[in-house]
This record gives sequence, C-alpha cells and structure tokens, in this order.
Amino acid sequence: MGQLEDVARALVAPGKGILAADESAPTIEKRFKSIDVASTEENRRDYREMLFRTEGAEEFVSGVILFDETLRQEGADGTRLAKVLEDKGIIPGIKVDKGAKQLAGSPSETVTEGLDGLRDRLTEYRGLGAKFAKWRAVITIGDDIPSSYCLHTNAHALARYAALCVEAGIVPIVEPEVLMDGSHTIERCYEVTDRTLHRVFGALHQQQVPLEQILLKPNMVLSGSTCPTQASVREVAEATLRCFRNVVPAAVPGIVFLSGGQSDEIATAHLNEMNALGGGPWELSFSYGRALQAPALKAWRGKKANLEAGQAAYYKRAKCNGAARHGKYTAAMEAA
Ligand code: 13P
Repeated sequence: MGQLEDVARALVAPGKGILAADESAPTIEKRFKSIDVASTEENRRDYREMLFRTEGAEEFVSGVILFDETLRQEGADGTRLAKVLEDKGIIPGIKVDKGAKQLAGSPSETVTEGLDGLRDRLTEYRGLGAKFAKWRAVITIGDDIPSSYCLHTNAHALARYAALCVEAGIVPIVEPEVLMDGSHTIERCYEVTDRTLHRVFGALHQQQVPLEQILLKPNMVLSGSTCPTQASVREVAEATLRCFRNVVPAAVPGIVFLSGGQSDEIATAHLNEMNALGGGPWELSFSYGRALQAPALKAWRGKKANLEAGQAAYYKRAKCNGAARHGKYTAAMEAA
C-alpha cells in the first residue's frame, strides 16, 4: 500500500475515529460564549490542550483535525500541540477551506472558498506535520434548493481540493454536508444526500482522484431538525446505509460521519446502529466536533480546576464512540 492509503486506513482503524477540533475563529467564539468564556488565544490553547492531553483517548481517537492557529501553537510547556498528538500516536490534520460564502446568483446557497494558493498552503502544512486535511461544502435543503448549480459548483471545488491534497501527499477528507436544519422529511434528506454524493463522486472521478486515498465525511440521512415526525435510530441507520451503498464506491476506505448538530448520545447511537447492521464495504466511523466536545466544554467552563472533569467527559464520549465502531455501545455506558 502507498503512504496515503496507509494514513487513510490508520484514520479508520478498528474502534477508532477522528476528533474535529478545527473550529474557525467565529465558531470557537460561539462555543466559548455558551460557557461564558472569552475566545482569547490562551483560552483556545488551554481548551484544546486539555482535550489533546487526555490520557487514554488515543485508544479511540486516531486523528484530530486542527485549525491553522492550533497547528502552529505550543502548549503551556512549549511543546507544539501537533507534537503532543503525535507522541500519543494520534495523527494531526488540518482544515484548509476558507469557509462557505454566498453563491453568486443564488443568495440562499453557499460555495466553499479557499482554492487560490492552496497548493502552497498544503506544502507548508505538510512541513508542519499535517498528514490529512479537510474541506467542508455546505448544502442547504429548502423548497427550491439545493440547485443543480450549487451541487455542481461545490462538488467541483471539493474535487479540486482533493486532487491538490493527493499531489501534496496529504489525505483529503471530502466533506459535503447536507444540513439537518429545516422541517424536511428523512426521505427528502435521502434524495438530496444521494444527489450530492453522485455529484461529488462524479467530480472526483473526472479530476482523477484515487478513491483509495480519501475519506468521505458526510451527514447521516436524518429527518430535518424541525420535522414533526422524527425517524427512529433504526430508520436513520437503514436509510443512511442504503443511500451510501448506492453511491459510495467500495474503494473508499472509510466514511467518517459528522455530527452536524445531533446530540452527543444520538450521534453515538446512530453510528452504533449502522455498525451493528453492517453490510457495507467501508469502515463506518466518526469525525465528530460537537458530539465529542459538548460535555467536555460544559465541564471545563474555562477553569483550570476543571481540567480533569473536562478530560473525563471527553474520554467518555470517545470511549462510547469507540464502542459504536463495533456496534457494541450500550445505554449502560452512558450511566457509568
Ligand atoms: P460537527 O460534528 O459538530 O458537525 O463538526 C464536524 C465538523 O468538522 C464539521 O465540519
């Protein structure tokens, strides 16, 4: 196997998944605001260092996606945070997109920016120790959207990003997120996710991206967050698996789901059910942001005295999701 395949497979090793800790400056500010903590460089460092130094998390966490600032940042003792991860056998990754911006001519939709200068940035990130990258496209469901124009434009950009990553020796995580916001049904989410993924894999093929060297980071197929009838855990798992079996080639080593605003326990239950049902050719794993961090953030509250409580909360979520990788997560694990 080549080097990129090895990294992609290591990221979806049995029982393990990815922590997304790559919140942009405005997003981490929002998360900190929810616990009344100012988003200073030091607080951002202390919070992320707390997560990264959690003892035993490496049993369940294969890689961490970092924001530009964090990849360059040193911990309180002067060790680079990327090195803190590497010393535990956790692979550092980097978010390289520059965010979803209004799509010209279709103001209710977005296209993700960041391609200009990306080749040079990837070379620099590689030098700083990043072995994988992430680019997130955002697809919104509404009455007349997503448009074909939006899907095409985002898929094209995702494929250009992925091709540049492979050239630079970095595993691309390809993230087309169909948002769960809205009152749409799970059937509508299925249809839009299917259309989105068809476009994405079409663009990856056209731009000659080797699928063995990427990971896919998609949404699950869910009822819209304000849909009056919410699909059950079993229904979500079945719809998601059916959708992906129809459109994700077997060459892709792993599917690492985003949590996208699901509660931490539901996100774990969904992943668990999919692995219990099984039947796909790829590893089914996680690349959660909020669903891994929310309890840790609440336990920490910006106080040094709460570091251990924050780490315990993060460890518990990592362990539950590690069990969900084998379909062995139980309600008793939450009570423990
Ligand atoms: P969530 O799991 O909070 O959706 O974050 C994952 C992520 O990286 C979104 O881009």
